[in-house]
Amino acid sequence: MTTKEETAAQDSLSKIKISDNENLKLHDAILVLDFGSQYSELIARRVRELNVYSEVVSFRVEPEELKRLAPKGIILSGGPNSVYDTGAPALNPKILQLDIPVLGVCYGMQLMVKQLGGKVVRADKQEYGKAILEVDPKDKLFLDLESKFVSWMSHGDNVTELPLGFSISAKTSNTHCAAISNREKGLYGVQFHPEVVHTMNGIEILRNFVLNICSAKPSWTIDKFIEDSINEVRKKVGDKRILLALSGGVDSSTLAFLLHQAIGENLTCMFIDQGFMRKSEPERLLTTFQNEFHINVHYVNAKKRFVDAIKGIIDPEEKRKIIGREFIRVFEEESKRIGPFDYLAQGTLYPDVIESADSNIDPKTGERVAVKIKSHHNVGGLPKDLQFKLVEPFRKLFKDEVRKVARELNVPKRIIERHPFPGPGLAIRIIGEVTEERLKILREADSIIRDEINKSGLYNKIWQVFGVLLTIQSVGVMGDKRTYSHPIVLRAITSEDGMTADWAKLPFDVLEKISNRLVNEVEGINRVVYDITSKPPSTIEWE
Ligand code: XMP
Repeated sequence: MTTKEETAAQDSLSKIKISDNENLKLHDAILVLDFGSQYSELIARRVRELNVYSEVVSFRVEPEELKRLAPKGIILSGGPNSVYDTGAPALNPKILQLDIPVLGVCYGMQLMVKQLGGKVVRADKQEYGKAILEVDPKDKLFLDLESKFVSWMSHGDNVTELPLGFSISAKTSNTHCAAISNREKGLYGVQFHPEVVHTMNGIEILRNFVLNICSAKPSWTIDKFIEDSINEVRKKVGDKRILLALSGGVDSSTLAFLLHQAIGENLTCMFIDQGFMRKSEPERLLTTFQNEFHINVHYVNAKKRFVDAIKGIIDPEEKRKIIGREFIRVFEEESKRIGPFDYLAQGTLYPDVIESADSNIDPKTGERVAVKIKSHHNVGGLPKDLQFKLVEPFRKLFKDEVRKVARELNVPKRIIERHPFPGPGLAIRIIGEVTEERLKILREADSIIRDEINKSGLYNKIWQVFGVLLTIQSVGVMGDKRTYSHPIVLRAITSEDGMTADWAKLPFDVLEKISNRLVNEVEGINRVVYDITSKPPSTIEWE
């Protein structure tokens, strides 16, 4: 980059303010500056696993703003760019002079090196995937770790010259500078990704940075999160009413429990039955909430309306859009009827919003641009122009963090362990037109699949398991008679967060039982196939 371009990039670092989040006042915090990596949120979540509050902020945050917030440490995330790319997200050099410890990860480390006068060049050999790391176990970042372990790399540039005061603290056979440190100034860098599970000791390295180097107090626990969230909601909402769209999933259910503790009767949950739920689920949901926990639920039977709305629709995106649109209409009509409400609560989680993407940061605005793969619809996806103020306590959390909150709040186990279920439900698991008849077939098949997976003891070992009904027909033979019916696709996957997934290696005897029961017990099915693709390149759902 020329000096002129560099100045322009620095100029574009205009003032960004971070919202006055209570957590930042109440706890020692680590801020992750986001340079566009798909792992930025994962870094924050790993830090929270160490019971230290962490959140992701734009790379354009003002040094003055950081000084005011006084985090105990700063982590510079990775990013898809090369530090010399025109318009690549730049690091404000003043951030390195705040006397706050900094850890640069991958691109973050390279930016720090470049900014402090070192050199980064295009590597002869790019390094992707696993690499054996040799570390200096006396370095503060690697204290008490083995001297050799597997790390996970993803870079095309290398640091070739260190800035003054730095030394090398780790290397691999391809990368001479795999980690660097300037102990005196509290500046550290790693070329690999400690936040991903493939890096052995990754969490230990982050622990050394967060707890030892930054001396952050591990005060952010799940029960503290609950206590803080309840106080925050009470302060925000006062004696006003909150409306919550309940889906029966772990996120909205847990939110209902949390809000019920916070504001009691002033919470109204609305459950819209689109007719695309699994067998017996609407009934079970109502019994659980109303009879067991005395949480007020307004049930809306909109089954016919939804099936009518998608009559004849084959295109998956159109189907999703119509269901989403109809959901909003019903929600608006009903909330007017039983309102007024001032607040709308949503169980939005971090992965609900962003699908992993390589290049998803706009260097001009510093904002993330989510790459749309599917039009996700869920109860957390209501449009912002509804006349409500929003309450979204989980928007920084990952699913397993919400599950921890749920356990702490005594949400029933069957809700906590329930597999994720898409907002448009069974409608996007019928490939082609959705009809009452097809819904009946799929609902029955889905119930058998779940039953057998439960019996096999595998339910909690897999992320999701379900059937997909294909509307093509094929020939079979049953009791000497020719059949011409639909196939069911069995989809079972393992995953950490739904962003990537692998197909589950279900034992043959379980597959066999499922196949036998589906064909024998569900009229309209004469063939079962098993989907053996991972995500990517496939997605988990078929539509
Ligand atoms: P895909 O099919 O995109 O799914 O690989 C990733 C995860 O998201 C779930 N999913 C949805 N969840 N509303 C939701 O709340 C939706 O519209 C939706 N579509 C997919 C899917 O079940 C998987 O867990």
